[in-house]
Amino acid sequence: MQEAQQQKPVIFSGIQPTGVPHLGNYIGAWRNWKLLEDDYRCLYCLVDLHSLTIRQDPAELRRSTMQAYALLLAVGLDPTKSLLFVQSHVPAHAELAWILSCYTYMGELSRMVQFKEKSAKHDENINAGLFTYPVLQAADILLYQAALVPVGADQKQHLELTRDVAERFNKVYGDVFVIPEHRIPKVGARIMSLSDPTSKMSKSDPEETYISLLDRPDVIRRKIKRAVTDSEGEIRYDEENKPGVSNLLSILAVLTGRSIEACVDSLAGQGYGALKEATAEAVITTLSPVQAQFDALIQDKERLMQLMDEGAQGAARLAARTLAKVYKKIGLLPRG
Ligand code: AMP
Ligand code: TRP
Repeated sequence: MQEAQQQKPVIFSGIQPTGVPHLGNYIGAWRNWKLLEDDYRCLYCLVDLHSLTIRQDPAELRRSTMQAYALLLAVGLDPTKSLLFVQSHVPAHAELAWILSCYTYMGELSRMVQFKEKSAKHDENINAGLFTYPVLQAADILLYQAALVPVGADQKQHLELTRDVAERFNKVYGDVFVIPEHRIPKVGARIMSLSDPTSKMSKSDPEETYISLLDRPDVIRRKIKRAVTDSEGEIRYDEENKPGVSNLLSILAVLTGRSIEACVDSLAGQGYGALKEATAEAVITTLSPVQAQFDALIQDKERLMQLMDEGAQGAARLAARTLAKVYKKIGLLPRG
């Protein structure tokens, strides 16, 4: 990483590499990650260790991690500006997680909403990893002295826990960790499901409810044509009473770089068919170049692995500094 990059505040964010990322991930996360690349020193991580709290098929996990990495590059994240890497390639994440788990209380972890939800959903496999998941997430962030963590609203509680643990540690040992801030995007923080516009677009829902970043034009047109709207027939932004139409307007506005009002004006006097057509075309125009890039990148696994390795090496260098400082502060004897 160049000298100039090293002076900038650090941003860290992570996404699990399972399943194909969808339009919500793109609009709510990746698109913003890209906008931050010039002003911050960014680290974007595929958190494969976090995925293990649910039983994964090994071959499928390898495949989807490679695919997610190619997609990070295909959406335009730049490995010469940001560190793009896989969590398990940097052992310091697991090492710091152990230390931090000794500074995190059972009571704190049992209050985590994600733990409660996931243990209710997978009651046959409530493993200790599911419980300590937020500690590993804290380690991800604190290892790099990240100042900002851009994530969706659902991750706010984990961020607060990270801050609490970091502050507790700093109180005992001095200023070891930077206390990170949470950052939620202004627009597009919540792209909704196409079939139920009152719940968020999610990759654990059925296929027709979301647009995968790898859906081809005919599939995109079909899914958007079937998107749930309302029976009123007027194109107007009103999240409460017209969630379906508002969701399509948000997608259209974000992807065309226009305001919602400008989008409404341009469709004045027309029906939902026109809104859906315009939205589908905006999605296709956005995703076609991403898919062309992806198709080329995924052919060259060696190059992908090389970039992954470079990302991991850069990240490991930064992580080693924090880990050494932590080990020293808490009294672990250094190796001779
Ligand atoms: P997940 O798919 O839950 O692992 O989330 C990965 C990233 O995408 C997180 O930063 C989420 O906040 C963001 N994200 C997930 N779903 C949506 C959505 N429907 N709308 C906007 N952002 C989302
Ligand atoms: N828990 C996050 C999610 O489910 C993913 C994640 C893991 C993460 N480690 C992180 C996000 C560190 C931000 C920073 O979306």
